[in-house]
Amino acid sequence: MTEERESPACRVCGGRVQEFLDLGPQPISQRFREPGDTSEEFRFRLAAGQCRTCTLVQLVEEVPRGLMFRDDYPFTSSGSTYMSEHFAAVAKELVHTELTGPDPFVVEIGSNDGVMLRSMKDAGVRHLGFEPSGGVAGMARASGVRVLGDFFEEATARAVAAAEGPADVVYSANTICHIPYLDSIFRGLQALLAPDGVFVFEDPYLGDVVAKTAFDQIYDEHFYLFSARSVRAAARRFGFDVVDVRRLPVHGGEVRYTLARTGTRPPAPAVGALIAEEDARGLADPATLVRFAGETARIRDALVAELTALRRAGRRVTGYGATAKSATLLNYCGIGPDLLPFITDSTPSKQGMVTPGMRVPVRPPEAFADPYPDYALLLAWNHAEEIMAKEHAFRRGGGRWLRYVPDVHTV
Ligand code: SAH
Ligand code: TYD
Ligand code: ZN
Repeated sequence: MTEERESPACRVCGGRVQEFLDLGPQPISQRFREPGDTSEEFRFRLAAGQCRTCTLVQLVEEVPRGLMFRDDYPFTSSGSTYMSEHFAAVAKELVHTELTGPDPFVVEIGSNDGVMLRSMKDAGVRHLGFEPSGGVAGMARASGVRVLGDFFEEATARAVAAAEGPADVVYSANTICHIPYLDSIFRGLQALLAPDGVFVFEDPYLGDVVAKTAFDQIYDEHFYLFSARSVRAAARRFGFDVVDVRRLPVHGGEVRYTLARTGTRPPAPAVGALIAEEDARGLADPATLVRFAGETARIRDALVAELTALRRAGRRVTGYGATAKSATLLNYCGIGPDLLPFITDSTPSKQGMVTPGMRVPVRPPEAFADPYPDYALLLAWNHAEEIMAKEHAFRRGGGRWLRYVPDVHTV
């Protein structure tokens, strides 16, 4: 706790943000570097707080968006088979429930490599993705998806509304939580959404992050950690109602929120039910987040102790999945190549590079079995099912997964 610092103002309501967790100086989470590049890295203080008025959990310091979402942004959504299937199912559902009128129009915020819009294209639905990161936007275009290489915000949304008419659905996955300027997003939605249109978005859920002590969900890009209560408060300020919520098992636990213009649709019972559940769990209670911060420090100490003991015992440990989340984990815990000689990852643009800050080398997936380590630290823990199924030979050969969510344990 760092109560002595001056409380910043909530990005949405202007209320006082009370800091509850300081994860220290951190680099840009997905700025992988050439091994020979020893120039000084950008650092910022990664700290999270909660608004005492609207309960929204947010970062205390904002990283300029141009430092994160660049042409070399390495994350590609289609890297996970499970997630590709998830987004194909999202598209199918939207086509059958919301995009049923004549010449429907769907817009996606953060369309990345086109993982969702590909299905819209295949279904013959008029669509447009907003994607500022040039590399991934190019991948989407190569598969025939229409992409605007720009940030979604009020001005760009207005321009699209003027040129292409209103959108029946604006959809976004794992992107709205990346956008500090939520006021501009909502004003853009006001301009772009059809009168009876919906804004559907899914992001990591504060309830799951707290329940699993998944502190590595906090990093530069994840500016907000939403709950149903905080999303409803934000929506109301900008003329929207939360009309439905659905919990999702992806990425360690998310919620999909459906928003409509105030008064156009009655909220489903699930909305009130989830907010009541959040209240019963004390998600808006400062003491809950102080406890979360205490658990975070305990898990850090336990993981470092485990890795140190394994090294002393002469065991080989490698990392699995050079995620954005792992930047928080490695830099907060001080885990470098001495404790974790390398990490394997399926993303070609991360291979041959070193991780931000702690400079752990990233190697291609083939390095995992060459030979298998004694232990594999599962950094891409949100893809555990997919990865552990794919790598079944590792455990059959006596290897063990070292996990740290929801606590340090081996499998
Ligand atoms: N929707 C995909 C990608 C999530 S990664 C998925 O769920 O897998 C977040 C993406 O949002 C990145 O590709 C980033 O470039 C993009 N992004 C960041 N800010 C944005 C903004 N203001 N408008 C549109 N896209 C944005
Ligand atoms: P992810 O956890 O989806 O996101 P974030 O970077 O936002 O924390 O990233 C998954 C990473 O793990 C990505 O770099 C690809 C890698 N990966 C593998 O190496 N093998 C796999 O089988 C899967 C599913 C992912
Ligand atoms: Zn607030």
